[in-house]
Amino acid sequence: MLSKIKLGVLVSGGGSNLQAIIDACQSGVLRNRAEVSLVISSNPNAFALERASRHEIDGLSIKIKCFPSPADHSKEMISHLQRRNVGIVCLAGYTLKLDSSFIEAYRGRIINIHPALLPKFGGKGMYGIHVHEAVIAAHESESGATVHFVDEEYDHGEIVEQRKAPVSPLDTPETLAKRVLEIEHEIYPMAIAKIIDRIASQPEAK
Ligand code: GRF
Repeated sequence: MLSKIKLGVLVSGGGSNLQAIIDACQSGVLRNRAEVSLVISSNPNAFALERASRHEIDGLSIKIKCFPSPADHSKEMISHLQRRNVGIVCLAGYTLKLDSSFIEAYRGRIINIHPALLPKFGGKGMYGIHVHEAVIAAHESESGATVHFVDEEYDHGEIVEQRKAPVSPLDTPETLAKRVLEIEHEIYPMAIAKIIDRIASQPEAK
């Protein structure tokens, strides 16, 4: 059996997507295929760090303010990820823009989840509840969630997995967010499984 691929998960908040990934590694689509080796939070008070600790997963808070430049911050994160042989970096509610040096180091191996049907409702300022507010303001009849590769542009890289959710005229941004979040928890582990398959099929895969 191939060894499990190590995941590094970058978070800033509650970490419900982190939880979905941990659960899938234990008893879902990622069982025997992946394990969360490190959780890095931009925010020391993120509940996501508590989730990591409950599962005895290493968790670190690495605040960008503690570094002279984004490149130095990036270097520190890369060194922790590389020390644990992380193969895929998953952004799960990570609110900072990644430095280009980080993207270069993990190009093709960084993914993000976005709470809308990209390429619609993505880009700068489109995060959290703002996304759902914009979807409702635009009178969309459907929204959803998207897992995509991360490149230098916001919410721009190749789409790995996407699923729709209906939008009702009675929805508030909060009710829509809840419906979309449930979808996120299902598709994020599926997207990771897809990428593992892809990596395994590459000739140079270890
Ligand atoms: C999710 O809605 C995700 O799409 C967005 O940030 C939110 C994170 O939620 N990128 P959680 O911390 O995983 O609960």
